[in-house]
Amino acid sequence: MDISNQLHQTIRSIYGAEGFIPLHEPRFRGNEKKYLNECIDSGFVSSVGAFVSRFEEDMCKITGAKYAVATVNGTSAIHLALAAMGVDDTCEVITQALTFVATGNAIAYTGARPRFVDVDEQTMGMSAEALRIFLEAEVELDKEGTPFNKHNGRRIGACVPMHTFGMPCEIEEIVAICEECNIPVLEDAAEAIGSSKKGKSCGTFGIMGTFSFNGNKVVTAGGGGAIVTDNEALAKHLKHLSTTAKIPHRWEYVHDHVAYNYRMPNVNAALICAQLEQLETFLKEKRSVAMKYKAVLENSEIDFMDEPLDCKANFWLIAVKLKNLEARNAFLEMSNDADVMTRPIWEPLNKLNMFAASDQAALPVTEKLAECIVNIPSSALPLT
Ligand SMILES: Cc1ncc(COP(=O)(O)O)c(C=O)c1O
Repeated sequence: MDISNQLHQTIRSIYGAEGFIPLHEPRFRGNEKKYLNECIDSGFVSSVGAFVSRFEEDMCKITGAKYAVATVNGTSAIHLALAAMGVDDTCEVITQALTFVATGNAIAYTGARPRFVDVDEQTMGMSAEALRIFLEAEVELDKEGTPFNKHNGRRIGACVPMHTFGMPCEIEEIVAICEECNIPVLEDAAEAIGSSKKGKSCGTFGIMGTFSFNGNKVVTAGGGGAIVTDNEALAKHLKHLSTTAKIPHRWEYVHDHVAYNYRMPNVNAALICAQLEQLETFLKEKRSVAMKYKAVLENSEIDFMDEPLDCKANFWLIAVKLKNLEARNAFLEMSNDADVMTRPIWEPLNKLNMFAASDQAALPVTEKLAECIVNIPSSALPLT
């Protein structure tokens, strides 16, 4: 049997011999219904409620960040974080071309232009080396120490690396390189709840980190997000901007910014609080699935995308690398025809119409991975 077929058989042996196998399903085995009922019984279903604050405390405990601010989703978390950093339409924001479209969209909401750099072949996240090459070639500091692109005059508002599929990227190196140029780092950790590097949580290396709790993530709020930071003033500002910048008062409605209605509702917070109680279990279960795939693929033509030595990945969506585009397409066709959901990595953002005019560096690794990476079923399953 060839290795594609062997992998297919392994997926079936893990998730069942018959029926449709999705890529990632949510699991509700804990206090979800109890907490949702508490919300309804209390009448607090909207953006004021005990579960929202509890969720923020839980995020601090889980990530080790000092502050967390709940948002309606991961996209709004990135937008809000960039807005709070002062990113605007005079800016360029560095990010990777190989990411989910939400990273680029959130940058575009601010009016800034995304600037794409290449990814690293092992982590699939931003390449520290590609970042350094771009900064050395194009970025200078003005007299005040503000970084700007010497070719187009745009201020470099932020650098937004993303931890692809929950695999920690070269974040320490990226933060160190950006520090040399006074560029604030915002980690798009949408996919990386529970992932860490040298014991430090993804999302806590930069000035801020954002998370998504969409229905397809390791743990879900239905829809939800969060921003974590160690900066108290920033956390206060983020919360203020996420709640229409209303000045607290018992009855007056006075607002001091054009701001956002981005605060997570209590019903979503109830769900995510129950889910976070099970995070460690889900992580163990997903790791066990990942290790079964790894064992089958050892010394084969299909590479298992493994975590770097000093990192712990959450194996949100488990990824494999096929030999080339032809082999990838054959595997996608075979598995989807057989009711096993598999899908390629995203079309790189520089190839999408709305971002095609953005400047980009050479992107050889992005182009290669875009042709070869496939996600395979990754849902948590009770350990047997
Ligand atoms: C890398 C990345 N960034 C941002 C988002 C946006 O999160 P949301 O769907 O919660 O808006 C997602 C996922 O959905 C994502 O995968």
